Amino acid sequence: MKLILLLALTLSTYTYAQDDDKHHGGHGHHGGGMHGHDENSIKHFFEPLPESIIDEEKNAALIKLGKMLYMDPRLSVNDKISCNSCHGLNTYGVDNEPTSPGHEGKRGGRNSPTTMNAALHIAQFWDGRASDVEEQALGPILNPVEMGMPNKGAVVQKIKAIDEYQALFAEAFSEEKYPFNYDNIGVAIGAFERTLLTPSRFDDYLNGDEDALNDSEKKGLKKFMHMGCANCHNGVAIGGNSYKKIGLVEAYETEDMGRYEVTGLESDKKAFKVPSLRNIAQTAPYFHDGSVETLDEAIHLMAKHQLGKDVGPGFVKHVKAFLGSLTGKDTE
Ligand code: HEC
Ligand code: HEC
Repeated sequence: MKLILLLALTLSTYTYAQDDDKHHGGHGHHGGGMHGHDENSIKHFFEPLPESIIDEEKNAALIKLGKMLYMDPRLSVNDKISCNSCHGLNTYGVDNEPTSPGHEGKRGGRNSPTTMNAALHIAQFWDGRASDVEEQALGPILNPVEMGMPNKGAVVQKIKAIDEYQALFAEAFSEEKYPFNYDNIGVAIGAFERTLLTPSRFDDYLNGDEDALNDSEKKGLKKFMHMGCANCHNGVAIGGNSYKKIGLVEAYETEDMGRYEVTGLESDKKAFKVPSLRNIAQTAPYFHDGSVETLDEAIHLMAKHQLGKDVGPGFVKHVKAFLGSLTGKDTE
């Protein structure tokens, strides 16, 4: 049995490598800035944002409803807190607070991650306990420290009684006889969140525009790859696609057991979803508990705890410059 598994694994790794060659080989010599090895590794590690991940024309009514729900404080028990309170669309999908005050001003134990590009992640929340943005959206409405609604039925009744939602739900779920139900609230908000992609200058660079990054940003990109940051922060969201322990090389102090709370696996103690670094220059403070105030400090701590490296100001400066190129262009 073990042997068969091993064989299967070897074969799949082999196929992957072949596939990889097909996609990434032979790109070594176009463009002027980074040649050969570096350019290959850039394409190996990163992928530009897709144009879109939801048909925005076909789903126009659903997305419109989702946006309205996202902005609506009436989804909270005292009509004061909306998704937008903690994930401001004008503030890169966050509230820039270490932890967020809910409907009674009480705070949870974790930092609000950005909703921008979140739909691209393997799962939602720092510990990945919701599988997608549709499922995730249903959590905070009933969470006692966040929006504090007592139960699903109460949410549906409240929304149904608001005139402007009658037409919007009917249009968004035109094929359903009873469009008002709790799950559909998540479906609509999720559809809206799927439109929250923020193309950056780094995407232009990945798409072949050599001049999209300046020299310091290019240096930072190299350091980010060569130091090993990109072993965890990679793919289309530059993160968001795996779970890793905080304090992998040098222990990190935190009470939060992260993914362990979801899986119960010893190896998942203090493991968190690797955060996406898109818009990271704008989403301070950092880490799961919001305890890290500046990006400089976050870079420093990452090098130390994840890679066992004590990095100097030059490293931090260039890597920070590179990370700045991941800020969405529309809002820059
Ligand atoms: C009181 C503040 C607050 C409100 C209100 C709130 N959230 Fe959050 N949100 C958070 C916090 C804190 C987390 C992280 C919690 C965790 O990981 O355990 C989070 C996580 C998320 C994530 C996961 C992102 C990722 O990278 O994993 C998404 C998506 C999200 N919220 C969307 C929403 C939506 C949609 C609403 C409205 C229905 C909403 N939030 C309401 C604070 C809030
Ligand atoms: C072994 C995997 C791994 C490596 C290597 C790694 N990171 Fe991280 N990174 C993580 C994880 C996991 C977190 C979340 C930690 C937490 O919140 O406790 C994180 C968090 C961050 C954050 C804060 C994100 C946020 O939204 O709060 C930044 C910035 C960051 N990393 C940058 C870097 C840089 C720069 C490097 C290289 C010097 C690096 N990382 C190397 C896994 C890694």
